[in-house]
Amino acid sequence: MNFLEERIIKDGVVKEGNVLKVDSFLNHQMDIKLLDEMGAEFKRRFAKKPINKILTIESSGIGIACVAAQHFDVPVVFAKKSQSINLDGDMYVAEVESFTHKCRNHVIVAQRFLTPEDRVLIIDDFLANGCALQGLIQIVQSSGAIVEGIGIAIEKGFQSGGRIIRNLGFQLESLAIVDGMDAATGHIQFRDQSKMQENVFVSEDENICRSSTLD
Ligand code: G4P
Repeated sequence: MNFLEERIIKDGVVKEGNVLKVDSFLNHQMDIKLLDEMGAEFKRRFAKKPINKILTIESSGIGIACVAAQHFDVPVVFAKKSQSINLDGDMYVAEVESFTHKCRNHVIVAQRFLTPEDRVLIIDDFLANGCALQGLIQIVQSSGAIVEGIGIAIEKGFQSGGRIIRNLGFQLESLAIVDGMDAATGHIQFRDQSKMQENVFVSEDENICRSSTLD
């Protein structure tokens, strides 16, 4: 078990509906030493990639991305989920439809912060269905920048996001992959990442995200 899996076992709480609460150390209260260890591990896994920018999405990705950025010595850009009065100039906007939440969200990044010279590492806390993540990928691609990799703290391996992203050919590194959990016993099953298969088949129907970029 790696350091993040151990921490999830120690302080994570399994809730009904396949929800893993990690708010005591990851996405509400944040253990900065743990985030620092995660940043070092992302740096190790993406050591060969010429990353010059980290992109994340508000809100919970921001802390993880900022601590990781110190290991890469690069700036962080975070995508906004709604239009704010502080956003000005031209924007990249992806419209993301979340089947889980039955709603449409906008993922927005100012065009001046993503350019064709950028080699981007996308970082987020959770990957489940990955609709917002697919929106982020579209935005990077619209800007002419390159997605060098995707770093996730916790992937829910029984939802389709991870398989879809890997099948698209991206280097997706999740520090912990939960393959199952039981709210009654609190048991959490992690994937043995040494036995990861590449390109597991995913049918079109499994991608429940519908996303498009807006002009
Ligand atoms: P999607 O809507 O883009 O497809 O995203 P996804 O299914 O991957 O997850 C939707 C939201 O729910 C995300 O947060 C994600 O972090 C969170 N989430 C999914 N599964 C779990 C879980 O088991 N535990 C916890 N704690 N969170 C989970 P978000 O709505 O973007 O919120 P935030 O980043 O502002 O916190």
